[in-house]
Amino acid sequence: MNIPFLDLKKQYAQIKQEIFTRFEEVCNDTAFSGGKYVEQFEKNFAAYCDTQYAVGVNNGTSALHLAMLALGIGPGDEVIVPANTFIATAWGVSYCQATPVFVDCTSDTWEIDASKIAEKITPKTKAIAGVHLYGQPFDVDAVKAIAQQHNLFLVEDAAQAHGAYYKGKRVGGFGEMACFSFYPGKNLGAYGEAGGITTNHENYVKHLHSLRSHGSTVRYYHDEIGFNMRMGGLEAASLDVKLSYLDGWNARRKAIAKMYQQGITNPHIKMQAQPAFADSVYHLFVITTDNRDDLMQYLQQNQVFPGLHYPVPCHLQKAYTHLGYQPGDCPQAEYLAAHCLSLPMFAELSNEEVEKVIEVLNQYKVS
Ligand SMILES: Cc1ncc(COP(=O)(O)O)c(C=O)c1O
Repeated sequence: MNIPFLDLKKQYAQIKQEIFTRFEEVCNDTAFSGGKYVEQFEKNFAAYCDTQYAVGVNNGTSALHLAMLALGIGPGDEVIVPANTFIATAWGVSYCQATPVFVDCTSDTWEIDASKIAEKITPKTKAIAGVHLYGQPFDVDAVKAIAQQHNLFLVEDAAQAHGAYYKGKRVGGFGEMACFSFYPGKNLGAYGEAGGITTNHENYVKHLHSLRSHGSTVRYYHDEIGFNMRMGGLEAASLDVKLSYLDGWNARRKAIAKMYQQGITNPHIKMQAQPAFADSVYHLFVITTDNRDDLMQYLQQNQVFPGLHYPVPCHLQKAYTHLGYQPGDCPQAEYLAAHCLSLPMFAELSNEEVEKVIEVLNQYKVS
C-alpha cells in the first residue's frame, strides 16, 4: 500500500459529473474570463468567509500583489512577513518594489512570533502580512494589537486556511484584506490556477476590480497601470462546485489530524502546538524530528511519501540575498526548515491508510 502525500484523483472521481455539467454551462455561455460564473463564486465565497466582498483573481500570488498595491504599498516601504511561509507572501511585497522584513516564528506553533514584530518596525513599515500557516490561524489579536498601536495595515495570507476559525470566526475578515490561493492542491482548489481577496472594505473592492483588469472600470479607458489578473470562468465554476463540499472535506482533515495527534506516540516526533484560539483546517500536517532526512528515507522505504514545507526559510532564499540576512537571524524558522516534513494529508485518505502512517512512524527508531 503506497500512501502519497496528496492524491487529487480520488476527489475528482467523486465530483466529476457535477464538474462537467458546470463546465458545459460555462462553455455554452462562452464565459471564459471574468463574467457571471466568477461573480457567482465571489458572492458564495464571501458568504462562506463571512465577509462582505470577495474578488476573484488568477492566483494567490496575484491576490497578495494586488492587496499590497490597493493599500498603496510602494518603493521604500517595508512590510512585516513571517520567515516561515511559502515565498509568495513576500513576493506580493517585492512586486510593489517594497521590502519584506522577515520575523521569526514561535518554537511551538511555528506561526509568526508576535513578540518579535515590534523590534522590526521602522518609520518605513506600512503593513503586517500574517499567514495562517498549514491551515492554522496565527494569533490574530496579538498581531492586530501591534498593527493598531503602530498604525499599520494587517493583511491575512489565508492561502492555506479556507474555512479555518480564529476564536470562533472564519479567517478572511480580520485585516484590511485577506488573500486566498485556489491552487489545485489547496483545501479549496480550482481546476486550474486561481486566487481571491476577501474584505469588508468597499473602497478596496473598486480598486481591486480595476487593478485586475488593466486599470480599467470603463472598457478601453485606463485610469492607472493595471494588470490582466482576472479569474477564469472554468476555474470559478469548479470552485463553486467544490465550495459546497469544503466543510465536509475540512471535517475529514480534522478527523485525520486527530488520529495523527492521538496515535503518534514516538517521542522523536514533534507536532505543531494548537492554541485554544485556533481551529485549523490542516492544509498540511507538519512534524519535526532530529534527523529529518533519515525519517524521510525510512518513510519512503515503508511506502509512505511525505512532503516538505519548506526546506529554506524566506530570509535565506537566494532571491533575497541582497537583503543581507544571515543564518541565525530567524533561528526557529531555520530549525523548522531543517527538521520538518509533512505527513500525507487529504480528505480521501482512508482510516486504514492513516493507521498505517501512524504505525510506521511509531516503529521508527533513531539510528
Ligand atoms: C502561504 C501561501 N501564500 C501564497 C501562496 C500563493 O498562491 P498561488 O500558488 O495560488 O499563487 C501560497 C500557495 O501556493 C501559499 O501557500
